[in-house]
Amino acid sequence: MSVEVENVKWETAGLGPVEALQKLADLYPGEIVFSSSFGWEDQVITHMIFSNNIPIKIFTLETGRLFPETYYVWNRTMEIYGQPIHAYYPQHELLEQMVNTKGPNSFYESVENRKECCGIRKVEPLNRALKGNKCWITGIRAEQSANRQFMENTEWDEVHQLVKFHPIFDWTLDQVKAYIKEHNVPYNTLHDKGFPSIGCLPCTRAVREGEDFRAGRWWWEDQSKKECGLHEHEAK
Ligand code: ADX
Ligand code: SF4
Repeated sequence: MSVEVENVKWETAGLGPVEALQKLADLYPGEIVFSSSFGWEDQVITHMIFSNNIPIKIFTLETGRLFPETYYVWNRTMEIYGQPIHAYYPQHELLEQMVNTKGPNSFYESVENRKECCGIRKVEPLNRALKGNKCWITGIRAEQSANRQFMENTEWDEVHQLVKFHPIFDWTLDQVKAYIKEHNVPYNTLHDKGFPSIGCLPCTRAVREGEDFRAGRWWWEDQSKKECGLHEHEAK
């Protein structure tokens, strides 16, 4: 609903990310959540929320196929801040049925299988995580892909019927790195090994110098098919 989006734009105009998050937490008490995949953008936002005690629930979609480094930074983050990060798991009946009929790595075989896996491991849990909320915070930045450059920091999510807000949308990667260093934020060490974007282990690889930030995600697929269903509006 564009009225909602216009209101959020107006309320957050000219504010820095922390102030904007505070303002949105006031606007949507108990109905605002932040999704984290523990990438460095997400770690910046987690630090802002936890260190300022902003009442925004943080959740992650635990696909069961994450990197060991991701579990490590998740655990470190809980230790350092002493605050909860809520995990949403896939429904075990759906997962068992898929794996028992198609095997554990069916996603390499076709785009259809890959979308089925993302649907069970990410999209269905995301729907549960967002249910009953009015505002969804993400770590999306404009610079991450050609398509994201055409987005805005505030948008209406037609699928989930809520406002989506990206607090560090305009930040460059250098700004993200500098913030992490300055505030000593725990981050995923894969970022130091050529992984600008980190998803599930079997579906993410390092990128080469000069390649797109997201080139290592579902690298075997046609560029136009790269979409996991979390951010539906994106015609990737
Ligand atoms: S994706 O569409 O390719 O998977 P990307 O990895 O760029 O998304 O991350 C963009 C934003 O989506 C993150 O900042 C985070 O808010 C959300 N996100 C992605 N993966 C997850 C996950 N596994 N759990 C929670 N949030 C996620
Ligand atoms: Fe499955 Fe790969 Fe999607 Fe993860 S990214 S849910 S392993 S297809």
